[in-house]
Amino acid sequence: MDRSTESNPEEASIAPFVHIRGGGVSVVADTSGGVPAIIHWGRDLGDIELASVADALALPVPFGALDMVAPLTIVPCHGDGFAGPPGIKVHRNDGTSWAPRFTAMSVRHPDSTTLVATAADVVAELELTTTVGLDRHGALTVSSTLRNTGEGELWVDALDLALPVSRDAAEIVSFGGRWGLEFQSSRREWSGGSSISETLLGRTSHESPPLVMVGTSGFGEWSGEVWMAHLAWSGNHRVGAVRLPDGRRYLTGGDLLHPGEVCLAAGESFTTPPLIGSFSPNGIGTASRRYHRLVRSMAHRAENPRLRPVSLNTWEAVYFDHDGGKLRSLADRAAAVGVERFILDDGWFGARRNDQAGLGDWTVSPDAHPDGLDPLIQHVTGLGMSFGIWVEPEMINEDSDLFRAHPDWTLETPGYPSVRGRGQLVLDLARPEAFDHVLTQLDALLEDHEVEYVKWDHNRPLVQGSDASSRAGARRQTLALYGLIDELRARHPGVEFETCSGGGGRIDLGILGRTERVWVSDCNDALDRQVIQRGTSLLLPPEVMGCHIGPPTAHTTGRTHPLSFRAATAMFGHLGIEWNLLDCSDRELDDLASVVELHKRHRELLHTGDVVRFDPSDDAGMAGGVYSADRSEALVSYARMSSGASLTPPPLRLPGLDADALYRVTHVAFPSETWGMASSHPAWPAAGITLSGAQLSGHGLQLPTLLPERAFVIHLLAG
Ligand code: DGJ
Repeated sequence: MDRSTESNPEEASIAPFVHIRGGGVSVVADTSGGVPAIIHWGRDLGDIELASVADALALPVPFGALDMVAPLTIVPCHGDGFAGPPGIKVHRNDGTSWAPRFTAMSVRHPDSTTLVATAADVVAELELTTTVGLDRHGALTVSSTLRNTGEGELWVDALDLALPVSRDAAEIVSFGGRWGLEFQSSRREWSGGSSISETLLGRTSHESPPLVMVGTSGFGEWSGEVWMAHLAWSGNHRVGAVRLPDGRRYLTGGDLLHPGEVCLAAGESFTTPPLIGSFSPNGIGTASRRYHRLVRSMAHRAENPRLRPVSLNTWEAVYFDHDGGKLRSLADRAAAVGVERFILDDGWFGARRNDQAGLGDWTVSPDAHPDGLDPLIQHVTGLGMSFGIWVEPEMINEDSDLFRAHPDWTLETPGYPSVRGRGQLVLDLARPEAFDHVLTQLDALLEDHEVEYVKWDHNRPLVQGSDASSRAGARRQTLALYGLIDELRARHPGVEFETCSGGGGRIDLGILGRTERVWVSDCNDALDRQVIQRGTSLLLPPEVMGCHIGPPTAHTTGRTHPLSFRAATAMFGHLGIEWNLLDCSDRELDDLASVVELHKRHRELLHTGDVVRFDPSDDAGMAGGVYSADRSEALVSYARMSSGASLTPPPLRLPGLDADALYRVTHVAFPSETWGMASSHPAWPAAGITLSGAQLSGHGLQLPTLLPERAFVIHLLAG
């Protein structure tokens, strides 16, 4: 790190310009105003004279505006004359302190890639500490803590963070979705204005994943400058891209607070969730892989890197029909096809014979499992598989012992009719007694049974959720959720957790700091999954993404696909099965076993390599895969999403391999795979072909004609 003044890194000093570098990225911040203003976030600048950056980028003061240009600080302040939406919105009971302006107090460098700047407003009696960190892979993380240094209460309405991007960012990709169709992207020109996505549904949400991406005109997977921002937070949020009237642009994100949700007493503080930025000088892929490296380096994952076990989840196989004999037979068939983890989904506890009862009572149902869970668990482990179990701890049904004993423990606003979702209410986890109840029951569940995996679900949005003080309780609920998982993890370090929220309603790096896997979507339709997984893969590496082979006809869409397409789609994640194997013919079971075997053969590459996606080269294809870090091996899929204007797909071009290496390219055949109609197909799939990396990138490889909704997978090995 360069500094414009010489000082000991640990020393509290005021160094106006700070340069931090990592992973080919430079961040230059001006701390002279107290709240750091990032004046460059982009390509590595090398060793530079820091003042020259500020001189080079100093803005003119135009007519028709204030006599100075307000800095674009990480927390933009209206009091500074900032023309965009303020990052900080606070006030006191008498309406004062509403337009803070900060001055610098101290700048610290706890290590060479971290900057901690503290600023104060002595009039409004506030202190704001902002942390900027660049990891060695180039991911930029910022967060701020606001402290009330006055005597009176301080109401916090917003504390949003800003990451400035180049004015060359000309296009925005925003993300949306719904249940069963998560991580859908839409791109538009960014000629002016802002693009903000918000959710107040109390969870990360299917509708507004907290991710935004901008880039230079026409940016793609391998070209253009790209900036992404993700809010690592599992509650209400606001994320977007803002263009100021003077042309400056930034990405923004923060916890979206309900009115009156945060009030700081004297000395109390509020900390934002981390906003994590990722820049790339050469397309989306590099930016996306910085997030993957960050996820892979999270302590619980890095310290315990295990091969992801092929899983079977019982939900779509049996739903609420927890017949012991059926479950044991399902386990027999699962083990026979190569499954390594058997997960008992919803329906094992309390009065949970359907989805209208039982939530809140996390004890084994004597109706569903008269002899307890142990006989099933022993059967499963006896077959060589580990056992996982489903829970939904943040919820409560009125038809439950918990509700009958404590009807007041719900997260609702008194005086209004209850708002139910899937017939259930939300349990106020921020209430210590409710937290303790769930902790005690789940702790006992994990203590008393040989459970290695917990699928943690959350099936309804939070609406009108008031806590015990009748104030909005969504933020406290999210923090209590984090606290609950953290405590369970501390007590049961061997247990892995999956985040699920009706599929992918809670996918973010906040929850991923305490879970091993996400359930990407309740949709197992391979066609939709191709798109959902491509979107999710912007943020997550494959081994974290739960991807299951469903039955031939998808339960959520009614569409039918052959196993070859379903398997080639699920293959590129943490593989699982969501299919009633008791319905399968011997042939289907054999085919499934060979697919599981295929996945195991390639999973080390799939689960440690670099995710690559290719820009569409026709109107019907979607291609991507995984390259090993040293580029000696790759697995790539081309999916034909529709019939397409041309029967012949274009040659598949694979940028980013080792140009000089010779690759043996082979077709990875899936059981019962069929291609499209043609008088003749390319000859190479029969025996393989050897091509250089330069050829694969330069002219590519012709694939056979494919029917719509089919995939073709190739394996590459450098000789
Ligand atoms: C929603 C999840 O996404 C499903 O996989 C399943 O666990 C159900 N909830 C169970 O109620």
